[in-house]
Amino acid sequence: MKIIVVSNRKGGSAKTTTAVNVASGLAKHGSVLLLDFDTQGHASIGVGCDLNEKLGVHSIFQGKTLSESFMPTVHENLTLSPALSFFDVYEYENLDGILKKRIKEESIADFFDYCVIDTPPTFDALLKNSLEVADVVLVPFVPHHLGVVAVGQMMRALYKSAIDFHRELADVYILPVMYNPHIVEHKESVQKVKTSFGESKLLSPIGIDIKLAQQFESGAPIILNTKRSKGMKDYKKCVKELLAKMQRE
Ligand SMILES: Nc1ncnc2c1ncn2[C@@H]1O[C@H](COP(=O)(O)OP(=O)(O)OP(=O)(O)O)[C@@H](O)[C@H]1O
Ligand SMILES: [Mg+2]
Repeated sequence: MKIIVVSNRKGGSAKTTTAVNVASGLAKHGSVLLLDFDTQGHASIGVGCDLNEKLGVHSIFQGKTLSESFMPTVHENLTLSPALSFFDVYEYENLDGILKKRIKEESIADFFDYCVIDTPPTFDALLKNSLEVADVVLVPFVPHHLGVVAVGQMMRALYKSAIDFHRELADVYILPVMYNPHIVEHKESVQKVKTSFGESKLLSPIGIDIKLAQQFESGAPIILNTKRSKGMKDYKKCVKELLAKMQRE
């Protein structure tokens, strides 16, 4: 099982949009588990499910198993562990290593080919639990100055977590989102990321498409739509590139 963590500490950088579409796109290639680690629960909404106030992925920090929160979604190959709304990570002490332990003890890797984790825009125990188990970290970023700064901050956080967890660095892929090729700032920002981190880490950009915002209302990821759209095309390409890179690593 490959674990893909979608992360960027900067808010509103299309983490959830990316997690939902990548998870749904991968579901065409294998069985996928989506963990909605952000208590906002937007990824759960994105795959046609409600937030849960009693049982969710965060229940593992309250002594529950991961698998008891599993629920079906819009795609038969995609299973969700929804967000537990109102879970407050700061009410608990020592949450270290719990996700890793649950994945191991419940042999989650025997049941899924891919696990996609949507993370909150904070550097807290939820993100640390996710980074500890990540094979791949996918960093979506809006291509402007603070977006580029945020990618750098994310890279440093990844190096730090690799040291803290005594593990190898996860493979990192950077995804420009809401990209408009006619905006100079966007082109320059992508170029800066390419120069700083290497072309091989960069995925093809996702353009602006209002359908990517509207998909949350219908609870159906755009990548699963029968009608073609820019957002759908871009995320399909993203999944294809990601699969090719993961097979190569
Ligand atoms: N390519 C796109 N084109 C148009 N709108 C987009 C695109 N990608 C994301 N959006 C919209 O931008 C907003 C932020 O996206 P999203 O919620 O995925 O970001 P996020 O990083 O998960 O945010 P948060 O930090 O709050 O978790 C949402 O309203 C989403 O629908
Ligand atoms: Mg989000």
